[in-house]
Amino acid sequence: MSIHNAEDSRKVTTHRLYEMKQRGEKISMLTAYDFTMATIVDQAGIDVILVGDSASNVMAGNVTTLPITLDQMIYHGKSVVRGVKRALVVVDMPFGSYQGNSKEALASAIRIMKETHADCIKLEGGAEIIESVQRILCAGIPIMGHLGLMPQSINKYGTYSVRAQDEQEAEKLISDAKILEQAGCFAIVLEKIPAKLAKRIAETLTIPVIGIGAGGSCDGQVLVLHDMMGMTQGFSPRFLRRYADMNAIMNNAVQDYIKDVKSGDFPNESEQY
Ligand code: KIV
Repeated sequence: MSIHNAEDSRKVTTHRLYEMKQRGEKISMLTAYDFTMATIVDQAGIDVILVGDSASNVMAGNVTTLPITLDQMIYHGKSVVRGVKRALVVVDMPFGSYQGNSKEALASAIRIMKETHADCIKLEGGAEIIESVQRILCAGIPIMGHLGLMPQSINKYGTYSVRAQDEQEAEKLISDAKILEQAGCFAIVLEKIPAKLAKRIAETLTIPVIGIGAGGSCDGQVLVLHDMMGMTQGFSPRFLRRYADMNAIMNNAVQDYIKDVKSGDFPNESEQY
């Protein structure tokens, strides 16, 4: 089995993710919000690209994911899809676009699919939003669920700490995961929950379980691109592994550019017409 699939140019589908789980091949997933980054991530061979509502934090500088709008998610989704040939593209449904009622949820999901040309959508929640999930699935739109830490509910919990540490919350989470699978979701993201609980859920469900801060027994892993690239600062949860220090690399490049402009070194003879 190859470590990554950059040489396998077939388009990733929800069915292929299911097959990967069945043969024990881990699923790789990262966020992207724009054309250039999406192109890089896709060409590197990632399986799934999530146009996350974390764009609210990473792209727009908001403190939470709540302010980002459906129009803004569609803008990011379109930009990413233009840069992707192989990866499955998932677009997050933003806060307020699906919690009201199932009709509104379907209308929002249809807008995302029609306007971005993405492959599927993701939304946060279990039993509370099951009517919306069913209605969207009935329209033929694949859904990735999201349980555990659900950043759109930050005002309810007041903290981004590890979820489902007590028996009652763990049982609710297991039940929600089963409800989403039974409804027909093709995968579920589990965010920031105990690794033991995530393992139990991944072993119970037949659909892929993608973890972020949920341990190594999940069927795949997702991280926010700007965090794992070391672009963002001041966010260092235990689950975050940084693969580059892009903040320092970019800062140095900008400083070199400033120096060259100020000194008159840039542009030189060969860099002008
Ligand atoms: O919006 C996002 O980036 C996410 C991931 C953290 C899973 O939902």
